[in-house]
Amino acid sequence: MLQLSSLSDIRQHTGLLRQQGQRIGFVPTMGALHEGHLSLIRAAKQQNDVTVCSVFVNPAQFNNPEDFRLYPRLLEKDAQLLAQEGCDVLFAPAAEEMYRQKPKLSFDFGDLERVMEGAHRPGHFNGVATVVSKLFHLVQPHQAFFGQKDLQQFAIIQQLVLDLSFDLELVCYPIIREEDGLAMSSRNRRLTPEQRALAPHLYQALQLLQKSLKNHSVEEAKKETEAFLRQIPEIRLEYLEVVHAQTLQPLREVSGKVPVALCLAAFLGEVRLIDNLLL
Ligand code: PAJ
Repeated sequence: MLQLSSLSDIRQHTGLLRQQGQRIGFVPTMGALHEGHLSLIRAAKQQNDVTVCSVFVNPAQFNNPEDFRLYPRLLEKDAQLLAQEGCDVLFAPAAEEMYRQKPKLSFDFGDLERVMEGAHRPGHFNGVATVVSKLFHLVQPHQAFFGQKDLQQFAIIQQLVLDLSFDLELVCYPIIREEDGLAMSSRNRRLTPEQRALAPHLYQALQLLQKSLKNHSVEEAKKETEAFLRQIPEIRLEYLEVVHAQTLQPLREVSGKVPVALCLAAFLGEVRLIDNLLL
């Protein structure tokens, strides 16, 4: 596996591959790779000639400095895992080169970012859109792979690709979970054993909400689910939403006519986790 860190090297390398007519599949990540990431690498490999993975803990998308400081960084281990999966290129730039100067351009995705993650993490999607735009320009992929785990991020990136006419196809893959239902996340590594044991309640809450919506209004079903989570004092719910799966706007009723997503964010101690379920 080729490992590159400089912007000119990756641009040159993928530019050459494109000239040779090779199809490039791209998986952007922040590293501390787990099976969720690796499922995207496998998909990229299957559908393309060359697979590129980026590992970059993007300072611009962290609204909480402690979360940035404590974000797991395991580049050597990541490189090993990627090589085992047959990934062709690992791009791991330094923040100093990605951000030679503070960007002046900023993004506003309107209603798409006024809810959930966007509402609770000011500046987060601006940072995501900035780095993903940079990475798309550098890697020049034919396809880019993302996880449903970050449902709102996927919607934002779809909008970004439309608005800026990026010439690539976006692909979204399902959430990979631990055996007990917890959605895999690099942040799970930061949970204490006690917190880790309680974390599956988040997915259980989404399943309860799904069941409850069959017989109750959105408001009632949300109340029931919030009460379920309140039983575990270690879990601090930030939001629980029933939304249109594409526009991400809150729904007052679930009629079966529109695609529905159940989304939540919650803290266990200082660790903030998100999860969702598509109906
Ligand atoms: P990161 O959190 O490392 O996630 C990289 C990709 O893996 C994202 O598309 C995410 O949705 C996907 N992913 C994470 N956990 C998953 C799981 N359990 N199952 C399936 N897919 C999963 O998302 C980011 O990094 C960053 O915001 C990034 C897009 C790289 C921009 O910095």
